[in-house]
Amino acid sequence: MAEIRVLPSRTAYSTQGEIGARIVGGEGPYLLGDDGRRYLDASCGSGSLIFGHGDEKITDALLNQSRKLTVFPSRHFSSEIVERYGRELLDFGPPSMSRVITFSSGSDAVEASLKLALQHHSAAKQPQRRKILGRNASYHGNTIAGLAAGGFVERRKPYESVLGRCAKASHAHCVACEFGRQAESCALECAQSFEHAILAEGPENVAAVIVEPIVGAALSAAPPDPRYLPRVWEICRRHDVLLIADEVMTGFARTGRPFATTHWNVEPDIIVCGKAISAGYYPLSALLVSERLVHGPLARDKYFQNGQTFACSPVGAAVGLAVLNRLADGTVAANAARMGELLRASLRKELPRELINRVRGMGLMVGFDINASSFKNPRTVPPARCSDRFQRAALKRGLVIYASNGSAGSEAGDHAMLLLPLTISEHEVRETTALLVAAANDLLEAENK
Ligand SMILES: Cc1ncc(COP(=O)(O)O)c(C=O)c1O
Repeated sequence: MAEIRVLPSRTAYSTQGEIGARIVGGEGPYLLGDDGRRYLDASCGSGSLIFGHGDEKITDALLNQSRKLTVFPSRHFSSEIVERYGRELLDFGPPSMSRVITFSSGSDAVEASLKLALQHHSAAKQPQRRKILGRNASYHGNTIAGLAAGGFVERRKPYESVLGRCAKASHAHCVACEFGRQAESCALECAQSFEHAILAEGPENVAAVIVEPIVGAALSAAPPDPRYLPRVWEICRRHDVLLIADEVMTGFARTGRPFATTHWNVEPDIIVCGKAISAGYYPLSALLVSERLVHGPLARDKYFQNGQTFACSPVGAAVGLAVLNRLADGTVAANAARMGELLRASLRKELPRELINRVRGMGLMVGFDINASSFKNPRTVPPARCSDRFQRAALKRGLVIYASNGSAGSEAGDHAMLLLPLTISEHEVRETTALLVAAANDLLEAENK
C-alpha cells in the first residue's frame, strides 16, 4: 500500500513517531507522555505558554466565563467583560495605543492589521495606497496574505504562485548581513532598504510596512541593531506609510518588557498580538491601534469590515484579563529578562561550539545557529536539515525545542529557538542547558562515527 504522507492520521496530526509517545498532560514547563517520561517543553506552544502548562488561575477564569457567556452578536451589543479587557489591555500596552480589537489567532490578527491599514488609506482619500512591504526572512502567519507579506521561504513555497506580490526589504540579522557589513562598518543599509523599496513602489502606492521587532521562526530570535527600528519608523512617517509591528511572538513580556517595540521607543501605528496574550489557554489575538490612526481619517468610518465569528470573545477576554493580572506587577517580565541572560550565558559557556554558535535573543526569546560543517558521517554530508536532526536528538534526551531554517538565505541555514515559560526557575534553566549539551554531544558523536 502506498505510504500516506499528507494526512497521516484521522485527526491530521503528523505521526512522525520519533518518540512514539502521546502527550497526556502538562505541568509547569513539562509535558507528560504516556511513556511515563516528562519532556522539558522549551517550545511552549510556539512561545504562547508564558506561565507553563496547567495554570489554575487561567483555567479557572476560562471555565467561569464559559459558564456565563461564550459568544454574542458583537455587531448589535457590547459586553462588560470584553470592554473591561479592552481597557486593561490598553493600560498594559504602550501609551500611544488607543483601541483594541480581538480575534482568534496571530494569523488572522495579521490579516486584520493589513486590512485596517488599507481601510485607513481609503478613508484618507488615498485608495491607491494598496501595497504592503515586508522583509526577507520574516514570518507573519500562515494565511495567504500573511505568507505574502512574510519572507519565510519554506512556508511560502507550496503557495508561491498565488501569493500577492509584496516587495521585500532586507532583514536586519547582523551576522548574515545582506550588505556584507561587520558591526563596526554598519551603515544601517538594512533599514535604508525599506526606503529604497518604498521609492521603487512609489510612496503614493504604499500602505504599510510590517516587521517583527525581533524575528522569531524565520531567524530564531534575532534582535536588530538598536538604531534599526527607530530608523524604519522614521522612514515610514516621512512617506506617510503605516508601521505595523507584528508582536505575536515578542509581546506579553517574552523579551523582558510588555512589548518589544518599547525597547527602542518606537510607536507603531498598529501592534499585532497573539500567542502569550492568552498564555496559550485560548485561541486569542488582538490588534492594538494607535491614537493617531483612530483619531485620523478612520474616525469617519463606522465599521471595520472584518467580522469573524469568534472576534470579541468573552471567554478570550476573561482569559486575557487573567493573563494581564499575572503580568501587572512586572515580576514575570523581570524574571524573563534575568533568566534569559542566565540561559544565554550558560549556553555560550557549555554548548560545543563546533555545533552550536551565535547564541542570541532578548529576555526568554533565545536562539542559536546549528552548524553541521564538522560532521564526518558520509551518509549525511552535505548535512541538509541538521536542525531537524538536532531537534530529534533533543527530543530523545527529553527536551522539546523549536527548530527552523532559512537564516542563511532561501532554505539554507539551520537554527533553533528556546521559548521557555517566563516563570522558569534557575534550576530549570540549568536543566535546559544540561539537556541541550547532552543532545549536542549525542549528535556530534552520531555524525562523526
Ligand atoms: C511573528 C508571528 N506572526 C504571526 C504568527 C501567526 O500566529 P498563529 O500561529 O497564532 O496564527 C506567528 C506564529 O508563529 C508569529 O510568530
